[in-house]
Amino acid sequence: MPKRVVVIEGEDAAPEAVRPTVEILRLLGLDIEFLTPPTGQEAIDKYSTGFPNEARNAIDASDATLFGATSGKSAGAIVYLRWGKQLYANVRPVRWLPGFNSPLRDPEGIDFVIVRENLEDVYMGLEGPLRELALANPASRITGEPLDTDREGRFTVKVITEEGSRRIASFACRLALQRKASGYPGKLTVSAKTNMLAADRLFCRVAEDVCRGEFPHLIYEQFIVDDFARRIVADPQALDVVLLPNLYGDILSDEAAGIIGGLGLCPSACYGDSYAYFEPVHGSAPDIAGRNVINPTATLLSAAMMLDYLGFAGAARRLEDAVAAVYAEGRALTPDQGGIATTTEFCEAVKERL
Ligand code: NAI
Ligand code: MG
Repeated sequence: MPKRVVVIEGEDAAPEAVRPTVEILRLLGLDIEFLTPPTGQEAIDKYSTGFPNEARNAIDASDATLFGATSGKSAGAIVYLRWGKQLYANVRPVRWLPGFNSPLRDPEGIDFVIVRENLEDVYMGLEGPLRELALANPASRITGEPLDTDREGRFTVKVITEEGSRRIASFACRLALQRKASGYPGKLTVSAKTNMLAADRLFCRVAEDVCRGEFPHLIYEQFIVDDFARRIVADPQALDVVLLPNLYGDILSDEAAGIIGGLGLCPSACYGDSYAYFEPVHGSAPDIAGRNVINPTATLLSAAMMLDYLGFAGAARRLEDAVAAVYAEGRALTPDQGGIATTTEFCEAVKERL
């Protein structure tokens, strides 16, 4: 049975990275069938929705999805992939390779993984006008002041559950243990706004319980998130596996991308118990759309993570090695890396290496 992969290109510049990535995957000659159901504008034209049943059924019949990035038109796909498929673990490796255009003086040895809880926190869509809170009579736990719900305003609720925190903490600990087996320090760093937010305190308490209780061979450390944001820049080599709630994980992933050379370089995967999808950390990069200059590295490395997931570890290493070789050589780099190559030229260089 071939593996089935759904490809969703997304919007703006994202397709310019996804298309050559799929071309390179095809070149690897693996037993993979690629499905490209209509999503986004194509689906809107045909079905009046950016995420029709045809796409949903294709995802259900597949082993994994490779996603570009969306400006909104194919956002329904992300909602289904994350919440519909319960892909609770967003894994974002941050690894500097020789040739990556880092702004740091000494990026050598930056090699950590952000594990971001992917379903809870402020991304549950629990929001609305303040007046909807009137019946709840909310009052501040800090000042005791009741909330004047007659005022014009909006709320967004942050929800963090014990179960969701336990699930992601256990995932992060297993990853740290797995990395430890191949020479990493075996350290879990957890961060949130524990000095201010009850939901964040729960997240960290559960993470500490899981780590110290069930994974005694791991080192556990915890920082308040403002200080942790500084540590990412000041001492990134000290990090191994970083566990964060959804919002901080989203924001600090882009900061972490910044220290190795930018969003063009950072892949990501979203895992659940029985499905996974793969996408770059970056968005649809509308400011560079249509110019054939988007750096496809993030998408290519996401595809390599997908090959690992599908059981093609050898091909995953070949693809990663080919990308690394292009950076080591430094001739075919895109403008974000200080080069003058187009996306197409970069991908041609990767193909030559393969
Ligand atoms: P962005 O990540 O698309 O772009 C930020 C900056 O980084 C831009 O200057 C862009 O040109 C640059 N950049 C990003 N990826 C690059 C690459 N591979 N090569 C070279 N340069 C790259 O974030 P932004 O501009 O805040 O959001 C644009 C759109 O993307 C928004 O509609 C946002 O909602 C959406 N978005 C979608 C995501 C997803 O589909 N998972 C994730 C993040 C944002
Ligand atoms: Mg983001």
